[in-house]
Amino acid sequence: MKLLDTCSAWLAAAVAVTLVTAGVAQARPIEAIKKDGKIIIATEGQFAPFNFFEGAKLTGFEVEVAEAVAAKMGLKVEWKSLSFDALLTGLQQDRWDMVIASHGITEERAKAVTFTEPHYCSGGVIIAKTVFKSGADLTGKVIAVQTGTTYMENVKKVSAVKEVKNFPQDTDARAALVSGRVDAWVTDRFVGMSSLAANPKSGLKMGGFLFIERIASAVSKGNTGLAGEINKALAATMADGSYAKISNKYFKEDIRCK
Ligand code: ARG
Repeated sequence: MKLLDTCSAWLAAAVAVTLVTAGVAQARPIEAIKKDGKIIIATEGQFAPFNFFEGAKLTGFEVEVAEAVAAKMGLKVEWKSLSFDALLTGLQQDRWDMVIASHGITEERAKAVTFTEPHYCSGGVIIAKTVFKSGADLTGKVIAVQTGTTYMENVKKVSAVKEVKNFPQDTDARAALVSGRVDAWVTDRFVGMSSLAANPKSGLKMGGFLFIERIASAVSKGNTGLAGEINKALAATMADGSYAKISNKYFKEDIRCK
């Protein structure tokens, strides 16, 4: 009995400490966000053409889609830009309401956050100085990927790869390939396409898909009220032509999941 009491006292203390360190922040329910009139959205800002800076201005396909979705919800957006690996963690700490940064829906991530419906479908492609068609072509090669991405996860699954080099930003992984420090770079298909188009003299070639994925925004785990409203608003942008207009502007095609 005595021991049990001591145990529960310790447990209570541990819970209290956890609450204090977490700042007792609560995930904002949709009602609180609506009352405030603005939604706080975090992204990276280094993943063109999805989220990037044009001078001091955050822009890109995902930034415009999120703004269209927020407008449908009657909300203004307060943007935050952070390193990629801080984004989902910040959701768990309730530092922002939503994250949109080209996250592929994975089982592992879905344990920590709640995903909305996907806003596009794509996949990881292999880019190199010659055409690498599939994972088999990565045998004995050194591959550059952005840390914490599904590219890293999937390249690691290719056991014949010699080495996976991680970079904090996808643009650093690309630079490593351009300067010949690695044999290939695995990134998003549309990121690769736009990078190749913007730098025709780089000598980089688009290879095959390593895997495909559905890309969605995320809210804090269990904030289904907010996720539901985002889903409704996203569907509305897809129904009224505004999504297609943004997609065509960046990709000359509609990249929604079919
Ligand atoms: N699609 C990949 C993933 O799910 C990469 C996302 C990278 N996004 C970014 N903003 N750098 O991990």
